[in-house]
Amino acid sequence: MSLGMALPKAELHLHIEGTLEPELVFECARRNGVSLPFATVDELRLRYVFDDLQSFLDLYYLAMGVLRTARDFTDMTDAYLARAREQGVRHAEIFFDPQAHLSRGVPLREVVDGLTASLRTSEQRFGISTRLIACFLRDQGPDEAMATWEALRPHLGDIHGVGLDSAEVGHPPQDFAPVFARAREAGLHLVAHAGEEGPADYVWQALDVLGVQRVDHGIRAVEDPELLRRLARERTPLTVCPLSNVRLRCVPRLAEHPLPRLVDAGVLVTLNSDDPAYFGGYVGENFAAVQRELGFDDAAMREFAANSFRASFLPADRREAYL
Ligand code: HPA
Ligand code: ZN
Repeated sequence: MSLGMALPKAELHLHIEGTLEPELVFECARRNGVSLPFATVDELRLRYVFDDLQSFLDLYYLAMGVLRTARDFTDMTDAYLARAREQGVRHAEIFFDPQAHLSRGVPLREVVDGLTASLRTSEQRFGISTRLIACFLRDQGPDEAMATWEALRPHLGDIHGVGLDSAEVGHPPQDFAPVFARAREAGLHLVAHAGEEGPADYVWQALDVLGVQRVDHGIRAVEDPELLRRLARERTPLTVCPLSNVRLRCVPRLAEHPLPRLVDAGVLVTLNSDDPAYFGGYVGENFAAVQRELGFDDAAMREFAANSFRASFLPADRREAYL
């Protein structure tokens, strides 16, 4: 097994709905009586070619339409944890998209019960500790985000943070200042996708207006030297997803990924899979691809793994036990 696969690591940027493999799409469709616009698993997999973030999101929201019951969410999460364990994952901070299910009439109780039924026993079964982060869909706007926050409130015992995802350009972080302020007052951790397709200015807004503790993606920070200095000085982590960036054409080829420039600037970078069922690899494959294509030595790979614990929301003593 390659070093990248074997290294103990935390995964900090992982959309649980993006772990839905084609086989489970068909299994859930069958048992829930949902009809699909593709006939076979292979036909679905052939669709996994994307031009940009939106072309991916269209398929991502379509496929998750088969998730109807708590059991579907439990099975999906169990499958992810089993795969993650094989890739050295010891801790996972997992995103989910409440609005993508509420809008289809699936009650939040069903979603959260399904996810937590799996996560509750993850440490015993898989040796993986977990946190759950609810993301607001930025393209649905700030009012719907606030309504979603109200819907989440009865479930805050199971939710450790909030994030911001979906179509980025035209939906700047600053629009979501009120809902992030509520989450902060409730003591939740704060993260946001910024600088994936959107400009470096969105990363500034995520830091200064939302007050996030980590930036998801953040790769376009390389276009702004002052922002790089800020991220490095404040040790604000970026959760970078190399295979995702190539598949969504944010970066033309892995060999041209800005990762080395972020590292050279002293930014605390972590490696993650984003939506591994769609982007050709789980987190271990992201580690392996980065080492192969960008020429990082073993010490650098160990540093990425150590960063994943440093950047996690584990308490300090548990973070340090991994370093
Ligand atoms: N970017 C934004 N929204 C998302 C992504 C992503 O990479 N994956 C799932 N939702
Ligand atoms: Zn993401």
